[in-house]
Amino acid sequence: MARVLITGSADGLGQLAAKSLADQGHQVVLHARNSERARYAKQKVPGAEHVISGDLSDIDETKNVAYEANALGQFDAVIHNAGVYQSPAKEILGVNTIAPYILSCLIQKPRRLIYLSSSMHLQGRPNLENFDKDMPRISYSDSKLHVLMLCMAVARKWPDVYANAVDPGWVPTKMGGQGAPDDLQKGYETQTWLAVSNDRSAQVSGRYFYHRTERRYNLRAGDVVLQDRFLSLCKDLTSIPFPE
Ligand SMILES: NC(=O)c1ccc[n+]([C@@H]2O[C@H](COP(=O)([O-])OP(=O)(O)OC[C@H]3O[C@@H](n4cnc5c(N)ncnc54)[C@H](OP(=O)(O)O)[C@@H]3O)[C@@H](O)[C@H]2O)c1
Repeated sequence: MARVLITGSADGLGQLAAKSLADQGHQVVLHARNSERARYAKQKVPGAEHVISGDLSDIDETKNVAYEANALGQFDAVIHNAGVYQSPAKEILGVNTIAPYILSCLIQKPRRLIYLSSSMHLQGRPNLENFDKDMPRISYSDSKLHVLMLCMAVARKWPDVYANAVDPGWVPTKMGGQGAPDDLQKGYETQTWLAVSNDRSAQVSGRYFYHRTERRYNLRAGDVVLQDRFLSLCKDLTSIPFPE
């Protein structure tokens, strides 16, 4: 049985992934933005071991999430799931781009890392010149390209870790909306499979999956010069160097 941390697991795909893993007998640690949402998360996934609270749009709170996770001990897998869509650019940058960077750097390296991207990353631009502006012009699509760049950089730099990204499809969660056409169950199954499965096809790194199938991705995510520039900007913004 594996020990898995899932960010943003009070609702949506994070909560469903947590329930599914807990039902399979895995040890699951939830994460929510504050103590009220943490209580809600624990009610929804009573089989979870613990809930960590922390607002991922805030750098200091995100660092504390990592410290609290480390205090709980080693994880086998971390699913970087939390995300925002229709929010101000600063929040999109903070939650979707910077928080997964901070947590990847500070949480004791698990064996498997899963990053939630989106097919919308295909329209994204690295937009790195807008990174540290007070009023950044970062779109959701840009942020989902960033998290894919992070995933590919992690896969390249940490050969002892399986780091993969997932497009869950357009599914009916709070973010996706009631009319979303894709299959909700398939929307979280790829993440849980990558987190715990012994299938050889789940023990790979540097891949981008949709419904357990590898998909082609924006080639800019694999550009190592861009990746290194991205990591360096994240370091400048957070004062946390990427552990090589
Ligand atoms: N749904 C889709 O169609 C779709 C498509 C492509 C990709 N994705 C990606 O899949 C992931 C999960 O999305 P979802 O559809 O499950 O969205 P969701 O239902 O809106 O859930 C997002 C989760 O992230 C949490 N969160 C948001 N901002 C946070 C913050 N500042 N601090 C801590 N937690 C925060 C939310 O907490 P609260 O519940 O407290 O707000 C919630 O638990 C996201 O990364 C998203 O970009 C979704």
